Amino acid sequence: MISEFYKCATSTQLDLICAQLINLSTHAFNANNGNVPKWEQAIEQIKIQNTGSLDFITPYLNISTHNINNLILEKSLKQLMPWRKGPYKIDDLQLDSEWRGDMKWHRLTSHIKPLKDKVVLDVGSGNGYFTYLMAISGAEIALGIEPFLLFNYQFQAIRTLINKPPNAFVLPLRLEEIPKKPLFDTVFSMGVLYHQQDHRLHLKQLKDVMRPGGELILETLIIDLEKVDKIIPKGRYAKMRNVYCLPSENTLRTWLEDEAFKNIKLLDITKTTSKEQRATHWIGNNTQSLKDFLDPNNSNLTIEGLPAPKRAIFICQK
Ligand SMILES: C[S@@+](CC[C@H](N)C(=O)[O-])C[C@H]1O[C@@H](n2cnc3c(N)ncnc32)[C@H](O)[C@@H]1O
Repeated sequence: MISEFYKCATSTQLDLICAQLINLSTHAFNANNGNVPKWEQAIEQIKIQNTGSLDFITPYLNISTHNINNLILEKSLKQLMPWRKGPYKIDDLQLDSEWRGDMKWHRLTSHIKPLKDKVVLDVGSGNGYFTYLMAISGAEIALGIEPFLLFNYQFQAIRTLINKPPNAFVLPLRLEEIPKKPLFDTVFSMGVLYHQQDHRLHLKQLKDVMRPGGELILETLIIDLEKVDKIIPKGRYAKMRNVYCLPSENTLRTWLEDEAFKNIKLLDITKTTSKEQRATHWIGNNTQSLKDFLDPNNSNLTIEGLPAPKRAIFICQK
């Protein structure tokens, strides 16, 4: 996959930083992680299967193939659990991930600048569900960056099943590691900002890698309570660790203004429902999902008594 990334990236403006990204990624892939042999074995098993073409048939990223051994494929893919992002369908095998990513995609896709021929960065890409959608939409290259190694292996598992994969890649990198060069036409940061201790720094880093006039799609958790500009959770939020700040819509807008982003537009605010986030048999032994994160007597509150998850999507330009 790294060699295919090299081939693709060097024919784009990412040529300038390609070697650096590959060095950092190789280092991250070599990190000591006891699960790697299991994940690599799963990929080896998947390589035996037939490949097929990739398209988007809502809600699935769909691989049309044939003569798949469903039992073996399911077993191999389940060695890579939990599957948070998706869903995917390979021949008849429905990989129903915890999240219906298609619902987020449909909220934003008609509002953003066309991705055709664009150099796109998907920060915190998870297993690359959206990165694939960006590439299918015609991006010259869609680069997902995701520090969590398992999700990189999930991306590779799916890629292994695709005949002529699109120009989508996921590398085990953090935004902080991407050289500060203004090379990306469109940058997505979805579900990442609330995990950052320093929201200003994250927004600044996003801006640093965008070319002038480039577009940012920022999706994050917000609150809408009268006269409350932000909540800083003391412990967990909806059982999640590392949720540092939940801004109001106005506060988030101010943060973007403070970083001098232009044409700031709110696209959408949606409360997360159990249609979009649910427990499936692809999430492994810890079968908790949204309904377990909410107050059983009041679905407007989390189990910790804070406002239930609501997500906003903003777009703006550098
Ligand atoms: C909640 S998931 C969102 C996944 C996907 N973007 C989506 O919208 O469904 C956030 C992901 O961001 C990754 N992440 C957190 N901090 C990051 C950073 N500084 N740079 C890149 N990825 C990061 C996490 O590992 C996690 O997989």
